[in-house]
This record gives sequence, C-alpha cells and structure tokens, in this order.
Amino acid sequence: MKLKTLLLSSLLLATIASADTNATKTEAIGYIKLLGGELKTQLLSNMKKGSQELDAVTFCTKNADQITKEVNAKLPKNATVRRASLQTRNPNNSADAVDKKIMQEYLAQIESKSFNPKSPIKVVEDANSTRVYKPLLTKAVCLKCHGENVSDNISKFIKENYPKDQAMNFKENSLRGVIVAEIKK
Ligand code: HEC
Repeated sequence: MKLKTLLLSSLLLATIASADTNATKTEAIGYIKLLGGELKTQLLSNMKKGSQELDAVTFCTKNADQITKEVNAKLPKNATVRRASLQTRNPNNSADAVDKKIMQEYLAQIESKSFNPKSPIKVVEDANSTRVYKPLLTKAVCLKCHGENVSDNISKFIKENYPKDQAMNFKENSLRGVIVAEIKK
C-alpha cells in the first residue's frame, strides 16, 4: 500500500474507533444514570418521609442490592452497572483491581486539586470490554449516614446490619465510591 493510502486508512480507522468508543461511552453513561437515579430517588424520597431516618437506612439495607439487580435486568445482555468503593458498607460493593486503580486516580486528583467535577468520567478499555466510571462525592446529606457525627440511632443500626462497615467518617466532597458500567465487546 502506498504511504498516503496507508496514512489515510489508518486515520479513517482511528476515527471509526473513536466514534465507536464515544457511542459506547454514551450508552454506559445512560446505565450509570439509570442506577444512580433509581438509588437516589428512592433514598431521598424515603428520607423525606419525615422523622424516620431509620426507614431510609432500612430501605438501603434491604433494597440497594435489589434495585441494582432490577436495573441490570433491564440492560442488554452484554452490559452491567454497579457501585464500588474502597471503604465499603455493603461487602457486595467491593472493588476489583481496575476499580481500585481508578479510585486511586480520583483520590490523587482530589488531593492535588486537579479533579474536575465537570468532566469526571473515566473510560477504561481492554480487549474484551469498555468500562465507564463516574465518581460519587459526598454531599452534606450523605454525611448523615457516612459522616463523622452520625446519630446514635443510625450508628447502632449500621453496626448491627453491617458489622464490617468501613463507610463512616467521610467529610463533604470526598470520594465515597464510583458507579461503573461495563459493556462487553
Ligand atoms: C440514610 C442513610 C444513608 C444516606 C443518607 C446515604 N447512604 Fe450511602 N449507604 C447507606 C447504606 C445503609 C449503605 C449500604 C447498603 C447499600 O446501599 O448497598 C450505603 C451504601 C453506599 C454506597 C455503596 C458502597 C458501599 O459502601 O457499600 C455508596 C457509594 C454510597 N452509599 C454513597 C452515598 C452517597 C454519595 C450519599 C449521599 C448522596 C449516601 N450514600 C447517602 C446509607 C446511607
């Protein structure tokens, strides 16, 4: 092949590949929003129901895994979405090696103040799949159950239900975990 043709065709291939990655990224972000939205709506609406702080926790305990399952059942066969954390409350959300690496990167960015909340998404591609990560930072509302001054009621409840809980003592705007969507090729 002539050099020019070779250059042109590799350029074309690169364009196609990046268009492909963009489509996958958009698809994955859709799944992240689906799970994030489902969990958030339900958590907030449970918390708003008045004084029953504990209802929200009970709700989380019983239903976060269930909601995750239901959302995944709606996705195409080659896709999954889940939460992961370096300090888990629910051991089902443990991080694998890739999750850990990505969260370390987010932590380093936050530490060095180079984290950009406007473009928080990270994409990891390997031969078999594309993963898309969205970081979850703590807001004031999260500290009720993940902060430094959690009420006795909630604290007792969490100790009883999550004996291996590691998800306390967070400050506002710290990395609580990620949502990750994975699409197999
Ligand atoms: C009413 C208490 C409560 C509030 C408020 C709350 N959480 Fe949680 N959170 C829990 C409980 C209980 C679990 C464990 C059950 C589950 O969701 O899997 C949990 C689990 C999680 C997990 C999954 C990882 C893990 O450690 O198992 C993430 C991520 C998370 N919370 C982030 C947040 C963020 C971000 C906020 C604020 C927007 C928030 N939480 C607010 C109680 C709460």
